[in-house]
Amino acid sequence: MENHYDAPILKGPLPGPKAKEILDRDAKYVSPSYTRDYPLVAERGRGVWVEDIDGNVFLDMAAGIAVTATGHCHPKVVAAIEDQAAKLIHLSGTDFYYQPQADLAKRLSDLSPGGDKKVFFGNSGAEAVESAFKLARWHTKRQCVIAFQGAFHGRTMGALSLCASKPVQKEHFFPMVPGVFHVPYGDMDAIHALLSHQLPASELAAVFVEAIQGEGGYRIPDPGFLPAIRELCDRTGAMMVCDEVQAGMGRTGKLFAYEHDGIVPDLVTSAKGIASGMPLGAMIARAELMDWVPGSHASTFGGNPVACRAALATLDLLEGGLIENARKVGAYLKTRLEEVCRDKPGIVEVRGRGLMIAVETESGKMRNEIVHRAFEKGMLILGCGPSSVRFSPALVLTEKEADLAASLFAESL
Ligand SMILES: Cc1ncc(COP(=O)(O)O)c(C=O)c1O
Repeated sequence: MENHYDAPILKGPLPGPKAKEILDRDAKYVSPSYTRDYPLVAERGRGVWVEDIDGNVFLDMAAGIAVTATGHCHPKVVAAIEDQAAKLIHLSGTDFYYQPQADLAKRLSDLSPGGDKKVFFGNSGAEAVESAFKLARWHTKRQCVIAFQGAFHGRTMGALSLCASKPVQKEHFFPMVPGVFHVPYGDMDAIHALLSHQLPASELAAVFVEAIQGEGGYRIPDPGFLPAIRELCDRTGAMMVCDEVQAGMGRTGKLFAYEHDGIVPDLVTSAKGIASGMPLGAMIARAELMDWVPGSHASTFGGNPVACRAALATLDLLEGGLIENARKVGAYLKTRLEEVCRDKPGIVEVRGRGLMIAVETESGKMRNEIVHRAFEKGMLILGCGPSSVRFSPALVLTEKEADLAASLFAESL
């Protein structure tokens, strides 16, 4: 397969014959809890292009839910994975030592604003959030946390308890972890009211916040919101936890999305784009806050050497120009989407930062139809929030590919 195409290649009606076979097998044997929007059966990927099992080629503006930051199978990431896989695939960084884990922790510390950091490694966003929740309780010896309506933080019970995205995610899973209070995103008055009437500040362990809400609809808060949370946490002794799982790793034009707001959180959670598709989650804490003791938290696979090497290669590429590309091409894509959406019925707004862009439509039904039609035209996109389409492509996207995405989107409207 090529690295670049001028347009998608569609060989016949979708799904093709080989895809249909896999879909049947999947329907019989794979968990029905997954939310598949359309029947893509992927075979291989390069850059922002994905070839399916029948040889159809799609423009990928979803990047496996904002994960393949450096594009599919970037040669430098593949080389790092191959080199490490041939040396040592696993030893468990919780019981033994190896260089890639220590190197990656140092690199993340060096790249994070605000002094020395210590890093806990897991395998996913949910695990990173889970570990932040536990460290907040450990360090403060308090139990309660504030999170936001519209937030998504993952599916394990602790992370799920912080979510307030869609009821289906919680149905039949109650009781949640106690002590979580949800308030409207972006609304400091609601936090002050909570602390005045209901929740003693002395019980508050942490505030969990996405610098830009991801699953909630790519919602950017007003500029004063994150600084106000920082101030509240400073005043109450609670930890400010920024969940950067979706918005982080260069996607918004800075390594961490919170950097646009000029604040430094106490804990930062990262996953998705951090290792270009290898499973890795990281919880990055101000060094003096990570004071838990041996045995208090660990993970067999977390910080796997292959995943760490993929992350180190990813960071080289991000720093080597991809963060800047996300800023530049993201601004270009947003303008192009605004142009094609202008005066189109049912379009509410185009919003975003860098390559984290949403087009809000008037209804979930309209959004779902657009996502489906885009697939039939050879472009992979996903929904977010109640009625928005999200564009979260790899950070290698070119202006030419952004033009193509905008015109395929226009055709799908
Ligand atoms: C902001 C945020 N936090 C946490 C998660 C959970 O990540 P994972 O699915 O890797 O557990 C997600 C996933 O979409 C997310 O967007």
